[in-house]
Amino acid sequence: MPTKIEKDALTGTDTTGHEWDGLKELNTPLPKWWLYVMYATIAFSAVWVVLYPAFPIQGWTGTTGWIAREAVVQEVAAADERMGPMMSRIRAATPQQIAADPELRSFAMAGGRIAFANNCAACHGAGGQGAVGGFPSLADDDWLWGGTHEAIRATIQHGIRAGESDEERTSMMPRFVADGVLTTAQAADTAEFVLSLSGRSTDAAGVERGKALYAENCASCHGENGEGNRDLGAPRLSDQVWLHASDKAAIARYIGNPRMGVMPSWGGRLDAATVNMLTVYVHALGGGEN
Ligand code: HEC
Ligand code: HEC
Repeated sequence: MPTKIEKDALTGTDTTGHEWDGLKELNTPLPKWWLYVMYATIAFSAVWVVLYPAFPIQGWTGTTGWIAREAVVQEVAAADERMGPMMSRIRAATPQQIAADPELRSFAMAGGRIAFANNCAACHGAGGQGAVGGFPSLADDDWLWGGTHEAIRATIQHGIRAGESDEERTSMMPRFVADGVLTTAQAADTAEFVLSLSGRSTDAAGVERGKALYAENCASCHGENGEGNRDLGAPRLSDQVWLHASDKAAIARYIGNPRMGVMPSWGGRLDAATVNMLTVYVHALGGGEN
């Protein structure tokens, strides 16, 4: 069928000449504003192609010579150069020296906060408050391995029971029931004695029976009165802070088959300046000792 362009009577607009079963297509012009926006974008792209990298011909075209990736590389290099001297001073100083120098300290606290969020918060909580399942709070003054700058730095640097450093923190509580040293009933009595150390026992006869078992099996690590031992990372049992188990049943199960906390060694993963910044940051979370 031949196409025939005609005027539509109703709108006064030309038709395209296409017709389907009596339906005719109008050839409505594009709105003016739309056309101008399109011309503007074409003009913009023409200017862009001349000024900025568009074609990979002998490097990149573009009269300004600006390249986004190189700009980032330069910015990073400039930031490194600005931070470099500060990072060297942080690396060379001890955590105590950093903490005593206001300028170094504020730099280390800012850097330590970021490094903590990136590397430690997953286990220790965003504010170092700890998490159930054996992840200790770093914001209180109850320390397994010690809360001085030196002790915190050594823990972070070498890790705990991870088998990654010769100088790691390590110790192993025996599996008293699983290895047949104590019966389940003896473990329950020992747990009762453990509760008595923080004044929570309700069964005097159990305490009496547990006392000797504790002295024989536990005091060497946890101390005669449950005061703990930082050389072994053995928690104080006479306070209200619990890492793994707090009620009698859980303590008895724990004595039977303890789980030992593991922390990676960070010395091989983070540079010395970052380890120092983390030490100062953790020490300042609330429980730092002198
Ligand atoms: C994979 C989990 C995990 C990550 C990640 C982790 N930790 Fe730990 N951290 C632990 C566990 C578990 C313990 C307790 C180990 C134990 O029972 O002796 C611990 C213990 C510590 C202690 C000793 C606390 C005390 O009471 O003596 C310090 C300090 C510490 N972590 C700092 C850090 C820092 C700083 C980071 C980040 C660089 C970090 N941790 C990342 C799991 C982790
Ligand atoms: C060789 C040293 C050693 C001996 C012996 C030992 N423990 Fe432990 N115990 C530890 C260590 C280390 C931990 C901490 C584990 C960790 O950090 O994950 C621990 C943890 C515990 C906990 C968990 C504390 C908490 O805060 O959740 C209890 C309870 C406990 N021991 C009781 C006992 C009792 C009772 C005995 C004796 C029957 C005993 N331990 C013998 C080293 C020892």
